[in-house]
Amino acid sequence: MTVLTIENLRKTFDMHILGDTQVVGLDDVSFTVDDGEFLAIVGESGSGKSSLLKCIYRAYEPSAGRVVYHGAEGDVDLVSCDDREMIQLRESAIGYTSQFLDEIPRVPAVDVVARPLREGGLSTADARERSQELLSRLKLPEELWEAYPATFSGGERQRVNLAQAIAPQPDLLLLDEPTSALDPETRQAAIDLLREYLGDGTTVVGVFHNTDVVEVIADRVAVLDEARLQRIVPVEEYEGVVVA
Ligand SMILES: Nc1ncnc2c1ncn2[C@@H]1O[C@H](COP(=O)(O)OP(=O)(O)OP(=O)(O)O)[C@@H](O)[C@H]1O
Ligand SMILES: [Mg+2]
Repeated sequence: MTVLTIENLRKTFDMHILGDTQVVGLDDVSFTVDDGEFLAIVGESGSGKSSLLKCIYRAYEPSAGRVVYHGAEGDVDLVSCDDREMIQLRESAIGYTSQFLDEIPRVPAVDVVARPLREGGLSTADARERSQELLSRLKLPEELWEAYPATFSGGERQRVNLAQAIAPQPDLLLLDEPTSALDPETRQAAIDLLREYLGDGTTVVGVFHNTDVVEVIADRVAVLDEARLQRIVPVEEYEGVVVA
């Protein structure tokens, strides 16, 4: 079953500061994503990977095209649905982590991760317990669980971010380079956790630079090149070398 249909997606940026020139972020991108699959998005820096995830999540308003989410309650075009519906989907079905870590409020790490679980109906105690399990699996030192992520290193923050995104096991999860700041051992722990904790219930569209990660985690690979979808292939057929 298809969970996401992307049709002729286009995103341009008007650069007034550059004398009204236009930068093309995404150009006529179309593909579908199957229920439960792990689709990796790869491509050189500036090829449009983050723009693609942002257009799906509507952090960017696409310039043209459709992004149809085939959810439990029917089809929704994420480009044209109203804000209320988009917010509801973000709360109940669609998760996202950005490439560059958002400013995190003065909340202990464990509560940052627990928040979406509490909002999903878990008791505070259960939500915190689950959060601690996730942070432990991601090898975040226990003495940091009650500390504020604002003071964390990039890799520590990235783990809090990732734990928060996967905690509620959304139906569709959009991950923008979720392991880029991790050392090889921690990265492996993150990959194992993604596989085991999310299972087949979550469809993932994830941007990755590291070819090793793509090879072990993805079902299919979409290659972007200068704003266009160059090819989308099963991981067995993917032999691209991704240059950062
Ligand atoms: N908000 C924006 N305003 C103007 N141009 C933008 C904006 N966001 C992205 N772009 C441009 O769109 C193109 C694609 O950017 P994008 O961030 O999607 O690339 P990327 O593949 O994620 O790169 P990286 O691997 O470096 O993260 C780039 O040329 C970029 O400068
Ligand atoms: Mg990017």
